[in-house]
Amino acid sequence: MAKVIAGVGTSHVPAIGAAVDHNKTQDAYWKPIFDGMEPAKQWIKEAKPDVCIIVYNDHASAFSLDTIPTFAIGVADEFQPADEGYGPRKVPVVKGHSELAWHITESLILDEFDMTIVNNMPVDHGLTVPLSVMYGQPEAWPCQVIPVCVNVIQYPQPTANRCYQLGKAIRKAVESFPKDLKVAVLGTGGLSHQLQGERAGLINSEYDEKWLDDLVAKPEELKHVTHTEYLRETGSEGIEAIMWFVMRGALDQDVELIHRFTRAPASNSNYGLLVLENKKD
Ligand code: DHB
Ligand code: FE
Repeated sequence: MAKVIAGVGTSHVPAIGAAVDHNKTQDAYWKPIFDGMEPAKQWIKEAKPDVCIIVYNDHASAFSLDTIPTFAIGVADEFQPADEGYGPRKVPVVKGHSELAWHITESLILDEFDMTIVNNMPVDHGLTVPLSVMYGQPEAWPCQVIPVCVNVIQYPQPTANRCYQLGKAIRKAVESFPKDLKVAVLGTGGLSHQLQGERAGLINSEYDEKWLDDLVAKPEELKHVTHTEYLRETGSEGIEAIMWFVMRGALDQDVELIHRFTRAPASNSNYGLLVLENKKD
């Protein structure tokens, strides 16, 4: 049977992708951030998930304001890196797992999560930067990927609780797939950042640190935090962090903290990275 082995949370700051692509990871600005990722890279080298379900938001690359799915799942065999204005990142094509993706889609929809099914979509920094964070610059990505998109761009966004419940339903779906596969769930985005308006540049490290404590130890309480609180405390783009709840919902209540790292600023964000495993029996 397939199994969810772990969850990873990581910001998907596009400048991190640019630092990798332009060999700047050892520059003074970036080195502490890339050093902080190293334990997660070592961990995934050993854990070797066959499939990563990457929960991210599309930043007007595959979808525009014409069509805004609340939750979407990519079922294709492959996904091309998106052109976000500077040409596509020169990273490997993202290989899907169509069979598992369709199985998860069926299970989710029968569980009353009305997913939008996507056969064709370019994947932007929201998805490719987390792959670079975890795997660096390989010839081919070492895992297959199932993209899950959440609308955090346009009001009204789903609640953190709904994201958490989606994570639980994804775990149930994965663990009813008859083939032996190791699956990791990655929640991306955040932490506090605001890219526009009067408070552009806002970072609230104190709030983020407590939020990370609670996401690990008491997600059932944290999931009730409102959109208004995210907006006020973590900025207009800080709400991306609700996507980490999909990852957290896919894990047990009690988890083992493998790695936690934060650093501010990384571009305009408080960079956060979390690796969690279910406790072994
Ligand atoms: C930044 C972070 C994001 O999540 C994003 O989508 C774009 C920019 C930033 O920190 O600059
Ligand atoms: Fe983003």
